[in-house]
Amino acid sequence: MDRRTFVTWVGMGWLASCLPVALAACSSTTEDGFHIVGSAADLDQKGQLTYRRFGAETVVVVRDPNQSETLFAVTPKCTHQGCDLQWQSDQKAFVCPCHGARFNADGKVAKGPAGEALKTHPVRIQDDSVQVKV
Ligand code: FES
Repeated sequence: MDRRTFVTWVGMGWLASCLPVALAACSSTTEDGFHIVGSAADLDQKGQLTYRRFGAETVVVVRDPNQSETLFAVTPKCTHQGCDLQWQSDQKAFVCPCHGARFNADGKVAKGPAGEALKTHPVRIQDDSVQVKV
């Protein structure tokens, strides 16, 4: 084995041994598969939290307007024709800019033309962090 090949193999071995540590350091995922999207204080300040990762669907977390201890996590994609929804806290609804459909915080249809509820995801607060499972 020449020197160049040896150095290449040592480098690849070092890189491979560091990769799991680097991924764990960058990850904000709990052992049971929930993703940390922010703190409860962030949620209360902003009115919503968004989880967006490459290769995964976007999820928006909001509090139930009628019972603030309850959280909902939904995919903000209109079930009519797929437009992106915006959470409108003053209207307590996800509103579609395309044809006016509205969805409650829990993702259920409040007004058509959409006919199906939004996709929902498990969500929780643990140790003051808001966590979703996508
Ligand atoms: Fe949302 Fe048509 S795409 S109402």
